[in-house]
Amino acid sequence: MVTISNIKTFITAPGRCDLVVVKIETSDPTIYGLGCATFTQRALAIKTAVDEYLAPLLYGRCVNNIEDLWQSMYGNSYWRNGPVLNNAISGIDEALWDIKGKMLGAPLYELFGGKCRKGAQVYLSGNAYGSDTESVVRCVKERLDAGCRYIRVGGPKVSEASAEETQRQMPDGAIYGGSIDPDEFISGCIEQFKTLREQFGYGPKLMLDVHEKLTPPQMLKLAKGLEPYDLFFLEDCFSPEKLEWLNLLRMHTTTPLSIGELFNNENEYRYVITNRLTDYIRCHISQLGGITPARKVAVLAEQFGIKTIWHGPGDLSPVGVAAQLHIDLAIPNFGLQEYTVPTKAINDVFPGSPELRGDYLYVNEAPGLGVDFDEGEAEKYPPIGYGLTRFINRLPDGTVIRS
Ligand code: CO
Repeated sequence: MVTISNIKTFITAPGRCDLVVVKIETSDPTIYGLGCATFTQRALAIKTAVDEYLAPLLYGRCVNNIEDLWQSMYGNSYWRNGPVLNNAISGIDEALWDIKGKMLGAPLYELFGGKCRKGAQVYLSGNAYGSDTESVVRCVKERLDAGCRYIRVGGPKVSEASAEETQRQMPDGAIYGGSIDPDEFISGCIEQFKTLREQFGYGPKLMLDVHEKLTPPQMLKLAKGLEPYDLFFLEDCFSPEKLEWLNLLRMHTTTPLSIGELFNNENEYRYVITNRLTDYIRCHISQLGGITPARKVAVLAEQFGIKTIWHGPGDLSPVGVAAQLHIDLAIPNFGLQEYTVPTKAINDVFPGSPELRGDYLYVNEAPGLGVDFDEGEAEKYPPIGYGLTRFINRLPDGTVIRS
């Protein structure tokens, strides 16, 4: 019996944010596993949750029984469903799957039923964005020329509040943010997509991430205004606190919808999936608790004709990218994959990272997740504390927009 002998949590920032990686060592010195536990805004809380609370539960336990260990970790704290504990569980869960693949000598997609496709079609997480419509058009053209087929457009630029605005918004001047006028945002989005269709026709697949910036009636207005421009999807129209509004939006637009990067738990995605309120489910799989729950979401979605587009921003380690990708390859209801091109430093820290060829992403064929972690390289990139500087959007009167 191979058992868990040691668990280490690393925080490293070879890109522009802190990545959290969990390494499980076993009683077999040749076998270890890696998992992504990145909640970059609260990286130290994840490290504490893994090192102080999960590791002591797991020492000496058999590595084989992933589902049982997942349920034990989830139930152990009694209070559950939060992003800190779920990400911590994800680090362990993905590392256990990595170990299982290595022990069986197979890439993970084989354990999930084998390949449905050779690679995953991606779109880049960085939006086509600019200070005016002209620069957005230029940015979309560059992407099209580079061979991108799916392009997410950023909408009108959210400008950093001027010193004067900051003074008006926050009397103590302490919190600096961006200023958004919802009506200008709505008309700016519609103008951008109208211009893009006039310039490039209806061939390119174009998307918009609303990032929960609008009130429900404003969102309905935007969706109706965008209807003629045939978006591939409209993303995150409402925050998880306002999911019931999806019913109304669904009745008012034929534009496909995508949602779910902020979901923590089944109470959120089950409502959306079983009521067929989205076309694409966008879960951030470490936020759910790793591969084990993500595969269950994918199966539930399949039953309701909904496809996956896992959330793939820069605050996801290549270990987490590989975890998503092994699921992508093995499920019939794969939709698309969001992807952030790694820096050279990231690839140095994570040898064997998934590889982009054209606009498809491929895993290597090594057993398990196929990604390694160079602890010495990681030390060169100490944490940068991204969570302390996150941009906060505000209405012109200073009210915080929860986006
Ligand atoms: Co999003």
